[in-house]
Amino acid sequence: MDLHIVVLAAGKGTRMKSALPKVLHRVAGTPMIEYVLATAASLRPETTTVVVGYGADLVKAAFSNHGGIAFVVQEPQLGTAHALLATELVLRGRSGNVMVLSGDVPLLTRNTLKMLRERHETTRAAASIITALMDQPNGYGRIVRSGERIAKIVEDRDATPVERQIREVNSGIYAFALDGLFDGLRGIAATNAQEEYYLPDLVAAYKRRGLVVETVTVPHADEIRGINSRVELAEASRVVRRQKNCDLMAAGVSIEDPATTYISVDVQVGPDTVIHPGVTLEGRTVVGAACEIHSGVRIADSRIGDDVTVYDHSIITESTVASHARIGPFAHLRNAADIRERARVGNFVEVKKTVLGAGSKSMHLAYLGDATIGTDVNIGAGTITCNYDGVKKNPTVIEDGAFIGSDSQLVAPVTVGKGAYVGTGATIREDVPPGALAVSAGKQRNIEGWVEEKKARSKGRSVAGSRGHRGGGSKD
Ligand code: UD1
Ligand code: CA
Repeated sequence: MDLHIVVLAAGKGTRMKSALPKVLHRVAGTPMIEYVLATAASLRPETTTVVVGYGADLVKAAFSNHGGIAFVVQEPQLGTAHALLATELVLRGRSGNVMVLSGDVPLLTRNTLKMLRERHETTRAAASIITALMDQPNGYGRIVRSGERIAKIVEDRDATPVERQIREVNSGIYAFALDGLFDGLRGIAATNAQEEYYLPDLVAAYKRRGLVVETVTVPHADEIRGINSRVELAEASRVVRRQKNCDLMAAGVSIEDPATTYISVDVQVGPDTVIHPGVTLEGRTVVGAACEIHSGVRIADSRIGDDVTVYDHSIITESTVASHARIGPFAHLRNAADIRERARVGNFVEVKKTVLGAGSKSMHLAYLGDATIGTDVNIGAGTITCNYDGVKKNPTVIEDGAFIGSDSQLVAPVTVGKGAYVGTGATIREDVPPGALAVSAGKQRNIEGWVEEKKARSKGRSVAGSRGHRGGGSKD
């Protein structure tokens, strides 16, 4: 039977107290509606329609690159039944069933939806609803049963004290036969505490007409939790993170303290990698096998090879680190930094749009930007590629085996040839030929007895008043 999916996502999410539409708030780093759409897509429906309203343009823009999604604008937002009615234009003339998901219920699993679909199809129900038992059902619609069968759903605000005791709640996830659905929705009135058109009211209406309404009760309430507040957002993030960490540990990754390890759903980590406390791995990051990621490290949208050690408090974004490299502590790799095999980047080194060739080292206090650095190069402490001339960024090339002395400035565009040496404290403005030594500082001069003389001078001054020359600068 044809399956269509509708995701309700038009509400403002008043309880979030946010300018951002609720469904774009992130659960463990990913907008909550993305979870819903990914689960929906896994069922391979005929059509997927998202009902947007509050912040419609923002929500649409966030999914501009997702193919196959139709958007319907619900304006104004008069409740969940009114929202589903807005899809009539898209679904008119279609047959089969429509599964209604909620943009704010991100943890729902594919398995549960498959169960819903199966139950709905085999019983030929007009409506089927996913329910769960909750210890604290406050805020949810309650499932009122008459005997075994569902009789109606009553919203928290409209419930009597007795109904409020019911622990079985409506997940807000339903399957409906398309046949007669929109006429049914038009029959719903907004006579309730919120003066909204409630989709759950369809249950009682269908029952009155003798139609079959089924329920599927999930064993774990966690997956159907709706997110209405920032507290619930944080709780959902914790659930997702815990699950991700468990999956990785099951696949052979050591996570020393799962409670403080934040790994986004799309991240991959190879076996025998050890992750210390307080690490964040985000976006499309891939970490290889047998790596060691120390405390306080953040890696986003980056690829890390095998046997890589990243020492404490390093930040790596949109970059690549090849196998057997060592990074940090306190290193900053960003914007297409490309660290090749066995290379080493030490503390307080920033690398941007730069290739650091195999076996090359930059161990202390450097800025390497827009540079192409060959293999087995040594970059001394305090080296700076002066890549920016105030107008544009210029490239620096350092060829294989070169040695850059400490505290050097390489004023780009400039090339240091193969095996060349740059003397300590040099300012390199012109290319250095292969095998050459470049020095730019003047010859050192020692002024014997200068300190004693200075002392004598200042004594004379304090006696004779404030005469004499000032300051003991290096130009003296
Ligand atoms: C809803 C259900 C409640 C259920 C709970 C489960 C209703 C009336 N109540 O309550 O029985 O226990 O979900 O999480 O349906 N939306 C629109 N247009 C609107 C109003 C809402 O698209 O006019 C969307 C929202 O963006 C949201 C979803 O529908 O994604 C649910 O709306 P929400 O206001 O969160 O309903 P709840 O009060 O949580
Ligand atoms: Ca909700």
